[in-house]
Amino acid sequence: MLETAGRVAMVSGAARGIGRAVAERLAGAGYRISAGLRDPRRLPAGTDWLACRYEAQDPGSAEAWVAETVGRLGRVDVLVNAAGINPKANFLDPDETALDALWAVNAKAPMRVIRAAWPHLAACGEGRIVNLASLSGKRVRNDNTGYAMTKSALVALTHAVRREGWDHGIRATALCPGFVDTDMTAHVTKQPRQLMSRPEDLAAVVETLVRLPNTASVAELLLNCRHEDML
Ligand code: NAI
Repeated sequence: MLETAGRVAMVSGAARGIGRAVAERLAGAGYRISAGLRDPRRLPAGTDWLACRYEAQDPGSAEAWVAETVGRLGRVDVLVNAAGINPKANFLDPDETALDALWAVNAKAPMRVIRAAWPHLAACGEGRIVNLASLSGKRVRNDNTGYAMTKSALVALTHAVRREGWDHGIRATALCPGFVDTDMTAHVTKQPRQLMSRPEDLAAVVETLVRLPNTASVAELLLNCRHEDML
């Protein structure tokens, strides 16, 4: 496993849910955390994380977050793209407002942060990227077509990153969970909350993923809270 001392991890969506659990876990493992937050005042209390404004829909926000991180902490070793949204966007609905927001936040924004962080991830020789995709990026099981389309795109982006990043020591994983007990799933399913995956368990997986050496790359990791054939 890679040493963590001095290393810097950027985590988007770190105010709550999976992003927060990941940031807490990586901080506990020794990483210095740069938290990308829509409102930096929402930095979880009691943390010593660098709180940076990151609004996925704003042009220039990804670049500003990376610049602030490098300016204050000096490097970027790990990037976890956890920020995401799930407004309903069915393909038969002619109103594409939700679909546009899904593309912006779930697909284009992670791409922009990766692009901005790329030279820093390459410079450290062991750069790590974890994209919070979803089982919805692997199969279609409900009527939120837009969510599935954008998570599928995020899986594709992850593979593009693996291909281009390999010779620079950059390793990327598409982490694809089913239901996780967070605010996002509060109103979208009848699955009982106690039978959902826990954010802390995903965070433990993320720590392992980013600390594996360059010679142990996990391309996709599918994680479910219930049985589905093949998943
Ligand atoms: P959540 O709703 O609790 O947290 C989402 C985070 O993203 C929040 O901190 C929010 O502020 C941030 N965010 C939303 N829009 C943003 C924007 N425009 N700019 C910057 N930040 C923004 O959701 P949760 O469950 O923690 O989800 C984290 C990631 O995991 C998401 O990408 C989600 O799609 C994915 N995921 C979640 C699953 C679940 O069952 N909860 C299952 C599979 C994937």
